[in-house]
Amino acid sequence: MHVLCRALALSLFFSVLVIPAFAAPVPKEGILLVAFGTSVPEARSAFTAIEKLYKQEFPDTPIVWAFTSQCIRKKLARDGVHIGGIGAGLAKLALAGAQVVRVQSLHMMAGKEFAGLARSVLLNIQKHPGRFKAVYLCRPLLESEKDAEEAADAVMAYLDGKRQQDEAIVLMGHGQEHGLADLTFAGATNIFKSRDPHIFMATVEGSRNFEQLAAELKKTGVKKVLLAPLMLVAGDHARNDLAGTDSASWASRLGKAGIEARSCLLGLGEVPGIAAIFARHTRQNEDDLVKEPLKE
Ligand code: CO
Repeated sequence: MHVLCRALALSLFFSVLVIPAFAAPVPKEGILLVAFGTSVPEARSAFTAIEKLYKQEFPDTPIVWAFTSQCIRKKLARDGVHIGGIGAGLAKLALAGAQVVRVQSLHMMAGKEFAGLARSVLLNIQKHPGRFKAVYLCRPLLESEKDAEEAADAVMAYLDGKRQQDEAIVLMGHGQEHGLADLTFAGATNIFKSRDPHIFMATVEGSRNFEQLAAELKKTGVKKVLLAPLMLVAGDHARNDLAGTDSASWASRLGKAGIEARSCLLGLGEVPGIAAIFARHTRQNEDDLVKEPLKE
């Protein structure tokens, strides 16, 4: 037999005998992108930007969206935009044949919303045991120092191109009354400030509030600021509470305090470099919710 034919025969022999024993078929994956949602149509471009990167990074993987806000889902449905919640999203992925699901939180940090997401996914797994081989709960944007450093670099690179030389930057985070996010926010603020001491951060609903921000700006002698949201989308909070013309907005209150304020309304989902941090989290095989944690 010709040597090449013999090699071919041998490789065929082994491929039949050996490969089925060792190479289990790769389970089909699916991704569930979970956000609070927005009813502001112009703010949806942040979701489009994230989806674009995910389609590049995870080709041939079904990507499904879930909005956790029922109120926003109902509002969108009235306008003909149908986006489901977590349960509907998981069902859609099961129907698409996904065996391994990666649930990616698009929250800024692991606060109240993220805790709710984790609970919803766990309850759904209990309702449908055995439906998926693995369900990874993928972490929100700001979790590690590396995350905050990459996010700070991305936000600063973007805002440096927008700010005037004598402008300080004010970032509005969401914040909450319950949970751990206040501490994450304080840690992230330190890392952002290490990039540039003229960055100031506060939240719209957290303990670090506008009064504290205004006092800090006054103490530092800041006269001009560029306002921007530290949120996935530039939705209602960014457009009204931050930059609105209403007397209660941060822009109006700063103006009253003698600080000139401009705003730059772009959700972080659209800031180059941010979606890649989420995608890095999506690839981590941590926190498989269908398995018991390792007992060491
Ligand atoms: Co809110």
